[in-house]
Amino acid sequence: MLKIVVLISGSGSNVRALLEAAADVAFPARIVAVGSDNDADGLAHAEEFGVPTFVVPPGSFDSREAWGTELVTNIQGWTPDLVVCAGFMRILPANAVRALSPNLINVHPALLPLFPGAHAVREALAAGVTETGATMHIVDEGIDTGPVITQTVVAVEPGDTEATLHERIKIVERALLVQTVRDIALAHINLKELARS
Ligand code: GAR
Repeated sequence: MLKIVVLISGSGSNVRALLEAAADVAFPARIVAVGSDNDADGLAHAEEFGVPTFVVPPGSFDSREAWGTELVTNIQGWTPDLVVCAGFMRILPANAVRALSPNLINVHPALLPLFPGAHAVREALAAGVTETGATMHIVDEGIDTGPVITQTVVAVEPGDTEATLHERIKIVERALLVQTVRDIALAHINLKELARS
């Protein structure tokens, strides 16, 4: 059974999808803890499912590295097999990435390598693309530059705003996240091999 720690920063619809999937005894993974960089609304989903939470705010530390060390200590306390960033809106410092990768994955609301960073949906709209989507990738030391695991395309509709397009992407993201975690747990996806390629 794959043990997962999920990191979030916001409303947590992605972690909720994973919590709901993992509530099925047939699902091959369990969420052992949900962490955040702030007192995020999404932590309430974990509490509802009886999953422990932790918060490590970067503002309480003298450096990004010190924050990363404390975050990794909290994560490793749960001895997870996999760490999932699901709407975690902080760039992890290199020491944290080195401690956790390649078993450290992220969901991103665009078809990477297009539109990395915190404003992917806004930037896709501004660029006038006709399709964008969602990506699961391994986290490396860059900003959304790690090896792509899986992607799903979402069409941009006439009249889309950042909010309407992001909502449609998030529907796809939730399914992609659950499927990707299932495939990792069943060894249909090998993160070590992907990270080497
Ligand atoms: C998701 O769309 C996720 O891809 C995005 O934040 C949203 C979180 O939604 N992450 C990034 O943009 C990371 N660069 P949620 O809090 O409802 O899961």
